Amino acid sequence: PRVLVLAGGLSHERDVSLRSGRRVAEALRATGCEVLVHDVDAHLIDRVRSEQPDVVWPLLHGASGEDGSVADVLELLGVRFVGAGPRATRASWNKAVTKSIVAHAGVSTPDYVTLPQSLFSELGAATVLDLVVESLGLPLVVKPARGGSALGVTLVRSREDMARAMVTCFSYDEIALIEQAVDGTEVAVSVLATPDGLTALPAVEIVTDGPYDFDARYNPGRTEYFAPARLPDDVARRVAETAVAAHEALALRHLSRSDLIVRPDGSVEFLEVNTSPGQTETSLFPQAVAAADRSLADVYRSIVDLAAA
Ligand code: DAL
Ligand code: MG
Repeated sequence: PRVLVLAGGLSHERDVSLRSGRRVAEALRATGCEVLVHDVDAHLIDRVRSEQPDVVWPLLHGASGEDGSVADVLELLGVRFVGAGPRATRASWNKAVTKSIVAHAGVSTPDYVTLPQSLFSELGAATVLDLVVESLGLPLVVKPARGGSALGVTLVRSREDMARAMVTCFSYDEIALIEQAVDGTEVAVSVLATPDGLTALPAVEIVTDGPYDFDARYNPGRTEYFAPARLPDDVARRVAETAVAAHEALALRHLSRSDLIVRPDGSVEFLEVNTSPGQTETSLFPQAVAAADRSLADVYRSIVDLAAA
């Protein structure tokens, strides 16, 4: 098949997307696909029309792609593409919407509030933050409601650190999601669609000295990964079921990655989903594929074949 890979875009995760795109394009070529790569810009529609690909794979991370806008365009053009449709992508892009959808499906997710920047300014930072800390307690995680690669995310342990965390967050998105910080083991579970249904790949465990921030994610050696995660069988089953339940509840397609916390008692908390999981050398999806003893190229090809079918 002829595949048009979309990479780049204008989000904060542009460079990550270019790395993901290059890696997938290379692997797909090795399976015999004809692969074109397009850096998303105003010529997207012309390019899709002129190249007539069998499948478009939007390897975009962040606002210019994971927010559903590119899926809107691709659906409008009537082209087959990898990943969820526009509505599902948009719902999964907003962490607050995602959390409420998975919670309805019975998946446990930490308590949270959302705080628009306008309200924060209107009511006065001190008043709002007092209310937030009073209702959720500490520690808290402040994140952009819509964002990726941990950009703008701060773990807040004391009330004094809240204001700075909010400012950092608002430089990425005008809606903050403030969530109870959950103690436990951080794992990522990738879900893959196959002709026979959904499969959860082995969980990948993330161990860092400090926060699992942008630098810890993309500099080889900064983070220690265990793939498969060091979990008892029943817990490994539970994290797999949680990721599949989230994928289904959010009506995702082809692939996703859910980021979860396993509490010391073995219960699982859902944090967020990624509709276009990173595919760089240090990313989690490729490590999960390796842990499943599968070839990355074959898995990418199976995704393309499924999207083309
Ligand atoms: N947002 C990055 C690319 C990830 O989730 O892998
Ligand atoms: Mg994410």
